[in-house]
Amino acid sequence: MKILVIGSGGREHALVWKLAQSPRVTALFCAPGNAGTAALGTNVSVSMGDFAALTEVVEREGIGLTVVGPDEALAAGMVDHFQARGHRIFGPTREAARFEWSKIFAKEFMRRHGIPTAAFGRFAEAEEARAFLADQKYPVVVKADGLALGKGVIIAADRAEAEAAIGRIMEERLFGEAGARVVIEEFLTGQECSIHAVLDGENYLLFPGAQDHKTAFDGDTGPNTGGMGTYSPAPLLTPEREAAVRREVMEPFMAGLKTEGIFFQGLLFPGLMITADGLKVLEFNCRFGDPETQVLLPRLRSDLVEMIEAAIDGKLPDYEPVWDERAAVCVVMASEGYPGAYEKGRPISGLAEAGVSALVFHAGTAGR
Ligand code: AMP
Ligand code: GLY
Repeated sequence: MKILVIGSGGREHALVWKLAQSPRVTALFCAPGNAGTAALGTNVSVSMGDFAALTEVVEREGIGLTVVGPDEALAAGMVDHFQARGHRIFGPTREAARFEWSKIFAKEFMRRHGIPTAAFGRFAEAEEARAFLADQKYPVVVKADGLALGKGVIIAADRAEAEAAIGRIMEERLFGEAGARVVIEEFLTGQECSIHAVLDGENYLLFPGAQDHKTAFDGDTGPNTGGMGTYSPAPLLTPEREAAVRREVMEPFMAGLKTEGIFFQGLLFPGLMITADGLKVLEFNCRFGDPETQVLLPRLRSDLVEMIEAAIDGKLPDYEPVWDERAAVCVVMASEGYPGAYEKGRPISGLAEAGVSALVFHAGTAGR
């Protein structure tokens, strides 16, 4: 079978790397891909937003399965577009991906179904959001409702900072239309970890835990990023906590989907905070994490194609994953300046030497 992976990051290189190991795969394509995916398959220079061009590639090349990496593609309805044309694709529809593209929807769903999460208010008017601040404890967390490249969360130390955050998000539209509505929530303290689950519409299968490291620079002194590294397993996710994730998050989530008639096929990746008061869901992502995937897939010993097919066909209980007991750790090396403005096009050397003892996954690179 020929497989197409959508995206150009480290996550997609890890996906292509793992898929390439399956005896079921005859050829791999990646759109748009990077220099790493080019070494394992064929990069297709079609933009992720051009669904018509992508389904043309699928039809022309006889691609039997497409795997979507980025949240933007899911939010824009790539899965709906492919399915309407009869193409097999792994990932949630636009409606199901709403858990990620609308934080308000996710929070209200959690409230409806008793999933533990920070107390919150939601607002479409800046004035109402400001009024809500009067009786809050500080800090509070102000979040843009929509997708904002992982940057739409502002932790405000006091009321003045929270008012400024509302102004920047809702009035100045710092994150564009994503900030038309906001969630203001209670600040939680504790330690964060995340877990991936694959869903087939009816059943779910949990991956081992992973933890990402968000601050740039040594000694946790830098700004927050999408992830400077990860490791798996996550010692925080003890067997007791994993049982709590099943009982308090996954079971009510699956039951909630059923009650509300939402069909979810794909990856669900809840971010969790372990507080003194038990675990709380910070957010739901509806895709593989980046760079979580880079440590999870090297630990998966069984066939990823089989897992994905089982999920698409509603047969997850038939798939038995085998995980490597050994730990994996990923360190991200980025161009100086990241996550702010950084220089592009700088040469990278030493990859062959590094690849002798480590797996090297590319993100946003190009060959020359
Ligand atoms: P989110 O995109 O909602 O996961 O938020 C991004 C990051 O902001 C999280 O990984 C946390 O580090 C932090 N964060 C989000 N919500 C809260 C909260 N209620 N309390 C404390 N920190 C939070
Ligand atoms: N590493 C966090 C994410 O993929 O959202």
